[in-house]
Amino acid sequence: MDKTQLLHEKVKKLLYNLTGITLSDNKDVMISNRLYKLQRDTKFVGNLDELLDKIEEGDYVNEFINSFTTNKTHFFREEFHFEDLKNRVIPEFLAKNGSSSPFKLYCSASSTGEEPYSMAMTIKEAQEELNQTINAKIIATDIDTNVLQYAANGVYRYAKSSKEFPSWIKPPKYFKKRVVENFGNQEILIKVKDELKNMITFQKMNLNDASYPFDANQFDVIFCRNVLIYFSAADQNAILKKLFKYLKIGGTLYIGHSENPHDLINYVQKAGQNTFVKLKEI
Ligand SMILES: C[S@@+](CC[C@H](N)C(=O)[O-])C[C@H]1O[C@@H](n2cnc3c(N)ncnc32)[C@H](O)[C@@H]1O
Repeated sequence: MDKTQLLHEKVKKLLYNLTGITLSDNKDVMISNRLYKLQRDTKFVGNLDELLDKIEEGDYVNEFINSFTTNKTHFFREEFHFEDLKNRVIPEFLAKNGSSSPFKLYCSASSTGEEPYSMAMTIKEAQEELNQTINAKIIATDIDTNVLQYAANGVYRYAKSSKEFPSWIKPPKYFKKRVVENFGNQEILIKVKDELKNMITFQKMNLNDASYPFDANQFDVIFCRNVLIYFSAADQNAILKKLFKYLKIGGTLYIGHSENPHDLINYVQKAGQNTFVKLKEI
């Protein structure tokens, strides 16, 4: 192995130990780019090998993790999940529990916030359609501290976001618009209104932890989408089994378009595309 390969192996081992993320063998360019960016961001004086030693010792850990996560997301990604939430899950919940019971949702890899804000908008729309109050609380977690801060801030570029809203969402209901000058160009920013923000608690959490800071059977709905793909099959299965403990029987789990439920398949009923209702405990 040459020096670069040894360095990349060190990155992969460190990243796996800290996050559970498995980088495949064809990621050399990506690893090099992100390592140099990390060096710039940390202003570390020393070579990359020494920087990795420091991270191993516990310095720059957040910076390292934040550099190697992939945060791609957008509002209403895989829109059919939000339609299922509005048209099946919420009416069934209200019929069974009434308006005053808390409706608890968990977004387990919330990235820059578009996913939990889409959940919140969906709940607001359902509330209006059904003319019933929904006492909803959303917990949104991610391992990346930069994206958590971005999400809590709740400001997005409109050009990117505007294409992302389904026809049943009118963005002015949920965002304040602001035009800013950016190097001579006008840019439209949209800021999430407080009524959505107040429905969500953002917190840092590592899905690779042995257990999660929730109560058994706490959630009516869990979104775990487009994050399992970064883990090995065995680790995906382990994460899903952990998450499953926190989902109520009758609760709904949504996973991403290229993800599968592994061992949970014997304990769930399929309710739609990558949509599973919990039937019994494992
Ligand atoms: C591609 S984004 C998916 C965002 C969103 N769920 C969606 O479907 O649009 C993956 C997110 O998973 C987060 N992530 C990666 N490893 C994690 C871990 N071990 N624990 C918690 N979050 C993790 C990343 O920081 C990133 O924000």
